[in-house]
Amino acid sequence: MRHWPLTGLQLTTAELVLRLPTDDELDALAQVAADGVVPDDVVYFPQPWASAPPVERARSVVQNHWWARGDWTRDNWRLLLAVFLDGQVIGQQNLSARDFAITGEARTGFWLGSRFQRQGYGTQMRAAALALAFDGLGAARVTSTAFADNAASRAVSRKFGYRPNGVHRIAVDGRPYDAHEEVIEAADWHGYASVAPVGIAGLSDCIPLFH
Ligand SMILES: CC(C)(COP(=O)(O)OP(=O)(O)OC[C@H]1O[C@@H](n2cnc3c(N)ncnc32)[C@H](O)[C@@H]1OP(=O)(O)O)[C@@H](O)C(=O)NCCC(=O)NCCS
Repeated sequence: MRHWPLTGLQLTTAELVLRLPTDDELDALAQVAADGVVPDDVVYFPQPWASAPPVERARSVVQNHWWARGDWTRDNWRLLLAVFLDGQVIGQQNLSARDFAITGEARTGFWLGSRFQRQGYGTQMRAAALALAFDGLGAARVTSTAFADNAASRAVSRKFGYRPNGVHRIAVDGRPYDAHEEVIEAADWHGYASVAPVGIAGLSDCIPLFH
């Protein structure tokens, strides 16, 4: 799409393709969410969308994608990429930032359908987001926040050498959770870029949207 060049942005890893979904693909992504992302009674997100009933969970995925595109500004953007394995959508990788041109800081988030977890895809997804942030956009640092008991998310950060950056106690549905923020700096990324190599295509036309 000429007037929304992010539709041409594509990240590739050994097994995955990450790009904006078409509406049909977004529908498939919503179904992946409806089929399950976290175990029952587990809360891993500050906005507990993944613990909502399946129909609401799916709809929130669709609306979140539309909202992120509609609300996009250079000062406050949220890139929500669908993740494809052999052409099938399996999850979502986010990269977002406020005042990126000034702070050089971005943050990531990610999720996979339950049946696609623990097969190394999360590691490839994070690598793709980090490559886009550092190599593509020139970020200075990237953060990730995971609840204390989210072993998978925190393990992915460990694989890329993130350092602890503070713990925030937040309330979700009336209960307290410790959200651990971790950070990776550009200088450290270069030592970890080989964990999961990433290809970036279609970025040059998108740069004015990011900074
Ligand atoms: C978080 C998530 C995206 C990670 O993706 P993944 O594909 O499952 O992770 P990987 O298979 O790449 O595993 C990365 C590392 O985490 C470890 N790991 C994965 N799941 C784990 C678990 N449940 N407990 C402990 N370690 C785990 C793996 O052993 C691996 O380490 P290793 O390579 O040293 O063996 C995925 O588990 C998920 O979608 N979880 C539910 C949603 C969620 O929590 N999103 C993040 C919110 S902050």
